Amino acid sequence: MTDPEAALGSLVQQALAAEFGAEYASTDPLIRPSGFADFQANVAMSLSKPLGRSPRDIAGDVADRLTSAPTVAAKAVAKAEVSGPGFINITLADEWIAAQSAQQLADPRLGVALAEHRQRVVVDYSGPNVAKELHAGHLRATSVGDAIARVLEYLDHEVIRAAHLGDWGTQFGMLIEHALEIGEQATYDQLASGEFTAFYQAARAQFDSDPAFADQARKRVVQLQAGEPDTIRLWQLLVDDSMEYLRKIYARLNITLTNADMAPESFYNSMLGDVCDELERRGIAVMSDGALCAFPPGFAGRDGKPVPLMLRKSDGGYGYDSTDAAAIRYRLTEIGVTRIIYVVGAEQSQHLQMIFELARQAGWLVPPATAEHAVIGLMTGPGGQRLRTRSGEQVKLADLMDEAVDRAATVIADRYADPLQRSQIAEAVGIGALKYGDLSVARASGYVLDFDRLLALTGNTGPYLQYATARIRSIFARAGLDPADATGPIALGEAAERALALRLLGFGRAVTDVAATAEPHKLAGYLFELASAFTVFYEQCPVLSAADETRSSRLALCALTLSVLMTGLHLLGIPVPDRM
Ligand code: ARG
Repeated sequence: MTDPEAALGSLVQQALAAEFGAEYASTDPLIRPSGFADFQANVAMSLSKPLGRSPRDIAGDVADRLTSAPTVAAKAVAKAEVSGPGFINITLADEWIAAQSAQQLADPRLGVALAEHRQRVVVDYSGPNVAKELHAGHLRATSVGDAIARVLEYLDHEVIRAAHLGDWGTQFGMLIEHALEIGEQATYDQLASGEFTAFYQAARAQFDSDPAFADQARKRVVQLQAGEPDTIRLWQLLVDDSMEYLRKIYARLNITLTNADMAPESFYNSMLGDVCDELERRGIAVMSDGALCAFPPGFAGRDGKPVPLMLRKSDGGYGYDSTDAAAIRYRLTEIGVTRIIYVVGAEQSQHLQMIFELARQAGWLVPPATAEHAVIGLMTGPGGQRLRTRSGEQVKLADLMDEAVDRAATVIADRYADPLQRSQIAEAVGIGALKYGDLSVARASGYVLDFDRLLALTGNTGPYLQYATARIRSIFARAGLDPADATGPIALGEAAERALALRLLGFGRAVTDVAATAEPHKLAGYLFELASAFTVFYEQCPVLSAADETRSSRLALCALTLSVLMTGLHLLGIPVPDRM
């Protein structure tokens, strides 16, 4: 076990049981980081009432036991002191930390335990739409969702990535007619390269100005919904061309979504009628003004009236609500997942909560299965406005990526003479900075896009973390050593070595926290603290010029830091250049 917090927690529980009786063996020891020692246990305050004693007395007894008893505690705990109203400030023993570090270094999983209960999880993220480009607003739902999927998978959960691709709707009649007009090759050329706006606007213009075309387009919608083969083939063409574009942009953004991970809205078409029937039969959906609606309890509009989920419109058509109802039923009852994480913008919060409530009413969502909305806040331009181009359109994600890479090239320009090398590094630094900027803020809060801040070489940024890995690599390069050969043994003399080792031991907890909360910024924050601890260590502890044993111990700490940073950045989906 390398997680100091968990190790301490069980030692405090053992002390509680020995002191006050076996029934206290599972009391929450309330271990927290401390400003005065490594950790503090706050349990004495919570036990004061049941034990009828003052918290300071209880804390004193526990502290004595932690240090004096000839148990394992004696080896892990160097000091335990009562402070304030009854906190127990605990300092770990250097030898214990060093021994845990050695274990972590030898462990291919770096101290990250596999999940105790393996779950099948759907991560619904990115939310792309056919024939629409990804815009700046898609960045967060894409990068955050991908990090969550990577982390869950690393913990051995079975992850089903699902991009709920918008590929259905009345606009496809018009788009298909336009594709016929300009021909398949021209359609491919435009769509696969992401020129959706031009394609869409041309179709729209013709629809608005040419009544014969508009008429054709409406007929197409009917044929599409009826599954007429030739219409389906043309529609599939639009989908495939758009997929080509998505595939390219995901690859460049280091996103793990593949074609097989698309869970298009059309996939649920064949289930919609049955979902409606089931809900109506069970009295959960009712006819209202000619439409089939569900009114999950607890959702009222401003007028105080219950808000409906529209399951079937009065013209018989199905929409976004219908598809999400079918999707959640399919995921829970057909694929049998026990957790669904919807990584979707905050503006869809009510919609999703209503879908979850509907699924509960219908008996599809039954504990222990859970559905959660991993809320994504807005990334804005300066002044808090939605990012827009000069002509007022939404900024394309591809343009944002280009700009990040261009700016990164300027930042590193004077360091690399070779243009190829410079462009490769700029690509990793630019994309890394953009994604990391996104992943390092709590996903639910908004933030202002500021390239200067994202690309800064110091602070909680992608480039700072990438640079930390490059710096460690260069230590090994100078020594002519492979990091894999730095196997210790580890001994902790200086305060900075100890602080670094202790920080490294927190990796498992940071990763597990991300899985539990679906909040990747916790891992980002951890990696930043780790890189900062490494910076202090590197300033204060010479590595290559140190004497034999100190040198190999410090090289081992460098190697371990490199592994943890690389693994952590990989879990966040941040590319790392091998030099910088
Ligand atoms: N395509 C949708 C949009 O552009 C997002 C999909 C989110 N996922 C879901 N299951 N509703 O708004």
